Amino acid sequence: MSIVSVIFKSSIGKKYVMAGTGALLFLFVIGHLVGNLQVFGPPELINTYAHFLQSKPAMVWGARIGLLVLVVLHVTTAVQLSIANKAARPVTYSGGEAYGSAWQSRYMLMSGIVIAAFIVYHLAHFTARLPAINGVGDFTKIKTVLHGEIVPDVYAMMVLGFQVWWVALFYIVAQALLFIHLGHGIASAFQSFGLRDHVWWPRIQFLAKGASIAIFIGYALIPISIYMRVVGSDYAGKAAAQLKDSASVQPAVATQGKETH
Ligand code: HEM
Repeated sequence: MSIVSVIFKSSIGKKYVMAGTGALLFLFVIGHLVGNLQVFGPPELINTYAHFLQSKPAMVWGARIGLLVLVVLHVTTAVQLSIANKAARPVTYSGGEAYGSAWQSRYMLMSGIVIAAFIVYHLAHFTARLPAINGVGDFTKIKTVLHGEIVPDVYAMMVLGFQVWWVALFYIVAQALLFIHLGHGIASAFQSFGLRDHVWWPRIQFLAKGASIAIFIGYALIPISIYMRVVGSDYAGKAAAQLKDSASVQPAVATQGKETH
């Protein structure tokens, strides 16, 4: 048997895969948050960052494929382990379920499913930019000028996107579930790698809680401050005009800029 099939067939191997893929996805979540927090700066900041990423298709596609593989491995091993756990303990404990096992793993599965649904919506919302699901209009029409180039206006897209109450609410709810998922998931990953003793476990749990709270606050602040019109409300008017009339920005910039994307 190859090392790969040994890992995927044993339950400890599956736990390693789930913990390892979870750790890498966690790094993505932090990196993505740092990128998104630039929305609190001037519009050019996040637009320059987004344009830099979009101008590196090989890097972006490499990251997309990598993320997809990580998500598939994480979800498959999670479902397999959850089924195996249920099969091993078909009868519930008297007086309810054991703390730290059944209810938490069910919570992980439930929050994981909502996060997966959120990611599907999120990709359709900001990456594919499907007008039918954003409650605003066609985001692909919103452009700005950056160093003489006409580029997608990601700042305006975020501002217009989160001025819609149900979109802002859905993002906040999804971040709350991500918070629950990470709070338990980070600590469990350390446990899967055998890093659990009476000295380190309380520290690991403290760190896991702190990190998941910081991530929740960072992500949730974006829709909240945009919806409350603390961020980008002046800019939104200009961008909304472009949605009604996609030609409105073009004459001012078409002479100096060349269209990209
Ligand atoms: C308030 C929360 C969030 C905001 C404002 C946000 C913003 C964005 C934006 C603007 C893009 C499109 C970038 C572009 O194409 O220029 C994007 C892409 C993406 N986001 Fe988020 N995001 C948030 C939360 C999350 C979370 C929690 C996850 C994962 C757990 C996530 C995963 C992704 C992925 C996988 C992409 C696709 C990257 C690509 O392939 O282009 N996002 N996000």
